[in-house]
Amino acid sequence: MIKATKIQKSFGKTQVLNGISMNVEAGETVVMIGPSGCGKTTFLRCLNGLETIDSGSVQVGDLQMQSGVNPSPLTLKLLRIRLGMVFQQFQLFPHFTVLQNIMEAPRHVNFMARHEAQELAMELLKKMNLEDKAKSKPRELSGGQQQRVAIARALAMKPQALLFDEPTSALDPRMTGEIGSLIRDLARDGLSILVVTHDMGFARRVADRVCVFDKGAIAEEGEPESVFKNPQSNALKDLLTETRY
Ligand SMILES: Nc1ncnc2c1ncn2[C@@H]1O[C@H](COP(=O)(O)OP(=O)(O)OP(=O)(O)O)[C@@H](O)[C@H]1O
Ligand SMILES: [Mg+2]
Repeated sequence: MIKATKIQKSFGKTQVLNGISMNVEAGETVVMIGPSGCGKTTFLRCLNGLETIDSGSVQVGDLQMQSGVNPSPLTLKLLRIRLGMVFQQFQLFPHFTVLQNIMEAPRHVNFMARHEAQELAMELLKKMNLEDKAKSKPRELSGGQQQRVAIARALAMKPQALLFDEPTSALDPRMTGEIGSLIRDLARDGLSILVVTHDMGFARRVADRVCVFDKGAIAEEGEPESVFKNPQSNALKDLLTETRY
């Protein structure tokens, strides 16, 4: 579903991504971990065309982005519909209600009729257990509720994959658990899921595969059980020591 091949990316003289290749299949959840500044967010941004890539290619279903070729506006639009992105700070529109937040993209990107968009939004809110919050403003919700609205908003575009950048960093353990089971449900529905997190317990619970990033490269990858039980790279050994406080 997502196929990134030898992605390189520099900002000025600093090389941030050093030829990263990664595939994520439909229904698969890949979790990226790694020290701060190693390029995780940059990698997600390259996948959905928020950053241009210096070399390599990104393929999402039948859409292709190649370094040196500017993707057409249509390719970018379709790419962003297929790859829903959920950010750490939710980035909901503060002056919109929950319902309006979810209806916005279907209405204005997909030109969906109002009643249809509203029906879809209510259906998603029901799935997120948030029907009673439809008329609330984001600031009236807890962090976990806002995160679920952000996920509903991404799902409203019927993406084939979801990219999460530190989805649980603002959440307490119970909310983190809820987001974890939600992610597993979405994967079971066939979505490809790529999650960046600093929470090793969360990584272990949701991942089919863990990728350890270090200095813009993949230091090691594998099933969570074996990767966490028997870390090979210094990057992962350091991460595990740091989190064992
Ligand atoms: N727009 C930009 N311009 C210049 N440098 C950037 C830009 N975006 C990121 N960088 C640099 O690229 C490197 C990787 O940043 P990135 O945000 O991808 O790290 P990260 O792995 O997501 O870190 P964290 O875990 O702290 O979120 C950092 O050194 C950062 O300063
Ligand atoms: Mg980041």
